[in-house]
Amino acid sequence: MYIEINRSVSKAIWLQIVDQIIDFIMSGQLSPGDPLVPSRQLASMLGVSRSTVQLAYEELQSRGYVTTSRRGGTKVCQIMPDETKAENQKTIPPIPVHPLLEEKDQVQYWPKLQTDKKPSIDFRLHEPYIDATFKKAWRKAFNIAVKSENVLDWGYSSPYGLPSVREEISRYLAIERGIYVEPNQILLTLGARQTMDLIAQALLQEGDTVAVEDPGFPVAWSSMRYRKMDVQPIPVDDQGICVDQLPSEAKVIFTTPSHQFPSGVLMSANRKQALIQFATEQRAWIIEDDYDSEYRYRGGPIPSLYSQLPSNILYFMSFSKLLAPGIRLAAIIGPETAIARLAKVQEYVCRHLPIMEQLTLGQFFASGDLLKHVRRMRAIYHKRHQDIVNILASSALTNTFKIQGKETGLHILLEGNEDFDEQQAVKAALEAGIGVFPLSPYCLESKRKGLLLGFAHLQSEQIIDGINRLADALQEK
Ligand SMILES: Cc1ncc(COP(=O)(O)O)c(C=O)c1O
Repeated sequence: MYIEINRSVSKAIWLQIVDQIIDFIMSGQLSPGDPLVPSRQLASMLGVSRSTVQLAYEELQSRGYVTTSRRGGTKVCQIMPDETKAENQKTIPPIPVHPLLEEKDQVQYWPKLQTDKKPSIDFRLHEPYIDATFKKAWRKAFNIAVKSENVLDWGYSSPYGLPSVREEISRYLAIERGIYVEPNQILLTLGARQTMDLIAQALLQEGDTVAVEDPGFPVAWSSMRYRKMDVQPIPVDDQGICVDQLPSEAKVIFTTPSHQFPSGVLMSANRKQALIQFATEQRAWIIEDDYDSEYRYRGGPIPSLYSQLPSNILYFMSFSKLLAPGIRLAAIIGPETAIARLAKVQEYVCRHLPIMEQLTLGQFFASGDLLKHVRRMRAIYHKRHQDIVNILASSALTNTFKIQGKETGLHILLEGNEDFDEQQAVKAALEAGIGVFPLSPYCLESKRKGLLLGFAHLQSEQIIDGINRLADALQEK
């Protein structure tokens, strides 16, 4: 057994001894029952201290390679050879893993272009504009958060989220959205999916009816189907969700009244009244997904459903469009008792959200950077929105499509007839280097067809060039 010690490398000497002895055992140069050289002797052979060799032997013993007894010294244990391990691995069948959703319930909710070709101008959805000014401000907030001297900021915390952050959110909601709530009516979450999941676990029972907009936000239905709810698609017309088609047994209605996703429609006042009446009479919850109402370019902010019926509404706000999706922070707002119930489930499942992210968000609010960011982004998006609407209006695309979403938000829908061939159009656009997305993956039973274009992350010149090229590509088809 020849052990070589290399003093010029950073690896500790005792670890070098350990690794080499393991190699001897695994290669069969040392067999089960063979004694190791006594530690004093090995130390003098290697020119190292005895305690170094003792440390190595202790490590080998704790890893199960050797045993030590008073009389027998240190000996190699019986170790299962590698081939036997590999053989066993082959014969042990894997533990079966059941599908999360049944085949019929699986939806392809996050459309990807079926090609390796990368568009040079990609109108992808769900992506805000993330520029250097924002990143710098966020970094500043993070650096302050991470220097927190408060020991409580590093320990376990409230499942609702940090009180200071919820206070900031409650102030923000009052200023920006006309929603007045106490911090104990706010629960911080990890975005739309986790929020839907909490609602399913905390407020619903398996098999309950959940009505969703169709076309709509696939996260709403996939999360609910995953929790075995009975998802009912409800059509959307030019006033919003068709309330007269809601099943009376609906326990939850998921809706995007301020900017219907993805059709872009604003829910009319009458429709809101009808929905409120339905929810009150049927004692149903409404999940009001207010994902991008900061970005309204015409008129003032639209009153939320929440401000009209706080008792039945779970109001969802996300920081994905407001800041960046990777931040993964959102909030659900509602009656104190319902929020307490959601917080309980949050506590069972994950105790609370990571503190540093929350502290950073709190700091971003407290410094005034959040309001500054929203105002700055609103101006940028307004310009880009005008550019896309204007270039679309002057293009031949208006012959084929109705342009939807002209007042609000970060995407536009070009709606075609039901026989419009989306796949063909997506392919033709891609051949011209333009990425656009079909409407159908956002539909359940609806046969509506069209193309969705996210523009927030694109510069005006790219938007204009992109639409011109799209118009040419679709005309040539
Ligand atoms: C309709 C809709 N609701 C909510 C969200 C926010 O989802 P999340 O908070 O999971 O990013 C998005 C994001 O793109 C959305 O499009």
